[in-house]
Amino acid sequence: MRIAVTGGAGYIGSHVALELMQAEHDVVIVDNLSNSSEVSVQRVADLAGHAPAFYQTDIRDVQEIRRIFSYHSIEAVLHFAGLKAVGESVSEPLAYYDNNVNGSLQLLQVMRELGIRQFIFSSSATVYGQQEQPPFAEHAALGPTNPYGHSKRMVEQLLEDLCVSDPSWRVAALRYFNPAGAHPSGLIGEVPRGVPNNLMPYVLGVLTGRYEQLRVFGQDYPTPDGTGVRDYIHVMDLASGHVAALDYLQQHAGFNVFNLGTGCGYSVLQVVETFEQVSGHGIPYTVLPRRPGDVAESFAVADKAWKSMSWRAERTLQSMCQDAWNFAQRNPEAY
Ligand SMILES: NC(=O)c1ccc[n+]([C@@H]2O[C@H](COP(=O)([O-])OP(=O)(O)OC[C@H]3O[C@@H](n4cnc5c(N)ncnc54)[C@H](O)[C@@H]3O)[C@@H](O)[C@H]2O)c1
Repeated sequence: MRIAVTGGAGYIGSHVALELMQAEHDVVIVDNLSNSSEVSVQRVADLAGHAPAFYQTDIRDVQEIRRIFSYHSIEAVLHFAGLKAVGESVSEPLAYYDNNVNGSLQLLQVMRELGIRQFIFSSSATVYGQQEQPPFAEHAALGPTNPYGHSKRMVEQLLEDLCVSDPSWRVAALRYFNPAGAHPSGLIGEVPRGVPNNLMPYVLGVLTGRYEQLRVFGQDYPTPDGTGVRDYIHVMDLASGHVAALDYLQQHAGFNVFNLGTGCGYSVLQVVETFEQVSGHGIPYTVLPRRPGDVAESFAVADKAWKSMSWRAERTLQSMCQDAWNFAQRNPEAY
């Protein structure tokens, strides 16, 4: 298929673009490079053995998007472009609603106009509310608690309404849990700009000497070792999950939601220990009070994706840490 990948120069998008190219799809990457570099597109080309088409364009530039989609006769859009820092979304809500909600809206309008009806959306486990205890199945109550999570929820709602209005749409909203790791080649991976919010990039910052010690927010949660528990999923598993979802949409119209997680939770200290094993270095840490908004545990019920699309995450925490560490070592200056 001819597939547009918005945000394809970013962390997850670059891995998915590569996976699609290796599955013989024609890939067109659209990214404004606000949180990435063209180097990752070059690396994807190196790994795939041929280059994807690439446009440095904002998804809200409707004229340009229309021109690109019609020039390449795009058949499906995988939509990764967006802002993703929860804390920043609280201080900059307008930027988040504009980029994530308005951006998606503009994209969908162009798609409707051009008759493109297949869409895969990067949603997030942050859409789940705190009314229920984990694990979260897709039908669990929703209740995001910050503008980032609201923006994801709003786009899901928009997509659901769109599918009701016109049954020819084929849409999958994929709710990622905690993406981690890198391509095993060490050529593409996560390059955080500024101080990372997430655990794994911060641990890597400590391992590479950028930060003196890890800050562990809370060791008094009702979990086995008192630290927060999350469902980490290897970015390579996420990538294969997108190809599975695209296949699924060939047989299933309408709005479809899938969790992409492993169904297994690991604590902060388990992640630290695993990084210590794979790197051979100790990771000093200090315990600070809980961060407002953080929950004790979050992990997925991952059965639906397995039953419906025969997809499940295969890679271990060990391989996430190993591949992330390999990427960090091979790219000391990032890119
Ligand atoms: N990484 C995570 O922990 C996580 C978890 C759940 C969901 N998600 C979602 O997955 C998607 C991809 O996340 P990621 O981790 O790869 O982030 P990323 O920042 O690495 O990638 C996003 C890409 O989109 C581009 N972009 C942003 N706004 C744009 C715009 N208006 N027009 C064109 N390009 C634009 C950025 O330059 C970047 O390359 C995001 O929508 C994110 O919200 C990520």
